[in-house]
Amino acid sequence: MFATLSAAEPDVILSLMAAFRADPRPGKVDLGVGVYRDAAGQTPIFAAIRDAEARLLATQTTKTYVGLTGDMGFVAALGSLSFGDALAGDCAGAQSVGGSGALYVLARLIRAAAPQTVLHVPTPTWPNHRNLLGQGAGLRVEGYPYLTPDGGAVDAPGMIAALKQLGPGDAVVLHASCHNPSGLDLNHAQWAEIARSAAMHGWLPLFDAAYLGFGAGPTDDAAGMRMVMEAVPEALVAVSCSKTFGMYRDRVGAAFAMVKSASARAAVQDRLAAVNREHLSMPPDHGASAVRMVLEDDGLRASWAAELEGMRMRIDRLRRTLDADLAPLPGGQRWCGLSGGKGLFATLPLSPAQIGVLRADHAIYVVPGGRINVAGLSEAVAGRVAAALAGLV
Ligand code: LMR
Repeated sequence: MFATLSAAEPDVILSLMAAFRADPRPGKVDLGVGVYRDAAGQTPIFAAIRDAEARLLATQTTKTYVGLTGDMGFVAALGSLSFGDALAGDCAGAQSVGGSGALYVLARLIRAAAPQTVLHVPTPTWPNHRNLLGQGAGLRVEGYPYLTPDGGAVDAPGMIAALKQLGPGDAVVLHASCHNPSGLDLNHAQWAEIARSAAMHGWLPLFDAAYLGFGAGPTDDAAGMRMVMEAVPEALVAVSCSKTFGMYRDRVGAAFAMVKSASARAAVQDRLAAVNREHLSMPPDHGASAVRMVLEDDGLRASWAAELEGMRMRIDRLRRTLDADLAPLPGGQRWCGLSGGKGLFATLPLSPAQIGVLRADHAIYVVPGGRINVAGLSEAVAGRVAAALAGLV
């Protein structure tokens, strides 16, 4: 059966991660995969999550199944955190396998309701969006402009003009905050325009909320998303706990379908359960239980919020440090403006050849397209990275 099967296309981000791990050079710098790293280069476990896991271990009495949509207390708590109690009350929801699992389930929900729907993703976007939502979940995927041609700013007029052409047969992926790969987000007025466009033209917003807390704090990062949700009758949201709670490998997330009609919402809730049953039966519990405990316990929640805020501020400092290091170097101006972005990512104007030189000559790993993980820099290597970048000009 498998004699003629060709190998799968490698994932650009995960293959870079594997190449980095295999590189024996000391002092190598991983600016690839989007995970938070501390000054020692480690991706820490939040203290609140450690405490919650210890409590779980001490008190859990069974490992029997929870149910098709997972822990609904977790889903409710994550919904309230992400977009507030009122909007969460209008949502059907289900626990998912990370944010990617949530995107998949929501795409399958779209397919069940309206299989001809065309899904529009920003250009550029997280490389796995097209793969997961198109090839994986079976939707037709198109792009809409998100950045100006030089990649230095959000092309809000271009985006709005493209979205004006869409209607009820279309769904639009919007990054809730910390756009991956550019770090450049819409401002308040631009979000208001997007909300008006969705309400007027009837396209369905599908939010990818993978970095809440890393831009301006969990509530502010969701402000644009909330504005759109308030303006429309239906919206979908995929929330990831990978970065926000540091749960990467535990694969924790939730899929939300805001449906303001209560009668339609009941059927959507059933469908979310059915989609879970079709592809994974029941979602895993451990990580979601730990996150639920953190969100429901005042002490753990305060500890988590403070640690997240510390990460956010550190990333912000690293952005400004790299900006300041680059500015005085010959050709350094070319890379300035990093501090205008938010969250883990920035995209540098690097050619494939320059990305190759960074890797071959400096052991600095950058995602094809020029995306860097700002948290991968660390205070110790930021100067070296800046010098290597300036040397490319
Ligand atoms: C990233 O963009 O680097 C992360 O979301 C990790 C991944 O799965 O690609």
